[in-house]
Amino acid sequence: MLSLIPQESKSLTGHEYVAVVGAGCHNWQMAILPIRVFPDPILRRKARPIKRVDDAVRRLAADMVETLQNAHGVGLAGPQVGELKRIITIQVPEQDAFTMINPEVTNREGSRQVMEGCLSVPGYSGLVTRSVHINARALDENGGRFKLTAEELLAQAIEHEVDHLNGIMFLDHLIAHEELRKVGASPDEPHWHDVGYTVYAQHAPTLPHDLQMVEVMNTVARLSSMNAESSLSEAEYDLSDGPQEPAVHSHGDN
Ligand code: NI
Repeated sequence: MLSLIPQESKSLTGHEYVAVVGAGCHNWQMAILPIRVFPDPILRRKARPIKRVDDAVRRLAADMVETLQNAHGVGLAGPQVGELKRIITIQVPEQDAFTMINPEVTNREGSRQVMEGCLSVPGYSGLVTRSVHINARALDENGGRFKLTAEELLAQAIEHEVDHLNGIMFLDHLIAHEELRKVGASPDEPHWHDVGYTVYAQHAPTLPHDLQMVEVMNTVARLSSMNAESSLSEAEYDLSDGPQEPAVHSHGDN
């Protein structure tokens, strides 16, 4: 998985595991596949060529596109979803997703240094060298041969994904190990601040109005420690923890 740098924030909940394909010749349900994460050994194995482009391959391609889009990635390779098959899907911003079966990079020109990430290495990005321009060829989802030329992000994505088919990860291309960075340190990325707030807890609501008690608790939600990889449970907090100034007022005092 090649992901945009800076990474877009992801859904915290990851709902919608299934979506129905719209009006088309195939009417199967697409599924979001689990993405294998480094150091899963499958990411180091070489994928096998696809001998026949059949419905099973087309279904895998559709699932991979769904998985890729759900993760806001730019590319996804078979081994990343546990399939040791030479298939990749690419989704460059503003363009339709497409699939390359048995893809090959046939020519590379130029080199440039670029920050890169991978959803199989969540939370990290690193500086790597990629080609400026490539030529590639592959089969499409109907088994037809096609060629393409690509530059910049598209070329980078194809190089990154074809690498995955050979068990190679962007970590192997790091210009220096020091160039591997934790994502999220940049001040202009979206981030959250801690939020202080007050909880008014009403006790004994069945008592007459003038005898009702309200407990006032001041607390802080530590949102600054949340990031795109956080789970909802990390947003939980315990009112008995942290700074608080419990006080009891009779209702109507304020
Ligand atoms: Ni990747």
